[in-house]
Amino acid sequence: MNFKSEPLISEEKLQTRLDELAAQINKDFGDHPLTVICVLKGAFIFAADLVRRLKMPVHIEFIGVSSYAGTESTGHVRITHDLSADIVGKNVLLVEDIIDTGRTIDYLIDAFRVRAPKSVKVCTLLSKPEVHDMRNKLDYVGFDISKEFVVGYGLDLDGLYRNLPHIAQLES
Ligand code: IMP
Ligand code: MG
Repeated sequence: MNFKSEPLISEEKLQTRLDELAAQINKDFGDHPLTVICVLKGAFIFAADLVRRLKMPVHIEFIGVSSYAGTESTGHVRITHDLSADIVGKNVLLVEDIIDTGRTIDYLIDAFRVRAPKSVKVCTLLSKPEVHDMRNKLDYVGFDISKEFVVGYGLDLDGLYRNLPHIAQLES
């Protein structure tokens, strides 16, 4: 698999944007405790970088979902790892790597609302507005990108390339 030689989003740009996103979240939530739910596996690096910038008391939870095979959405969302704590009455921030069609995040928001949290907000590093097919809105978006498949900084192609420190685009 080949990548375009220039990163789509450099390490430096990622870190600068994270500062801005965290500042906004800190402003919106103030001192209110926040339950951050990291959507595995793709969001693990983004979530780790983001929570270190948050100032309120933070609980971290993980949810594992699987919806992709290769570069195509299968349309079926499967929970592979559930939360370890309940979220009744909590302010929840769902942290995703990327919103493509938005079906995964719609599924998760519905699944979480049933568990009676105080609020549910969504923070995603990347978003592909051209392909959205979703009912919910996104509260915090790092970067809008085109519909091309990307890897790195947590995002994979069939399990590989999550460890790249920047976002790279595949050569098409
Ligand atoms: P959605 O349900 O179509 O929004 O797909 C969301 C999930 O698909 C994301 O959480 C990613 O795990 C994966 N995904 C979508 N687009 C990409 C991409 O460009 N690179 C890597 N993973 C992607
Ligand atoms: Mg994901």
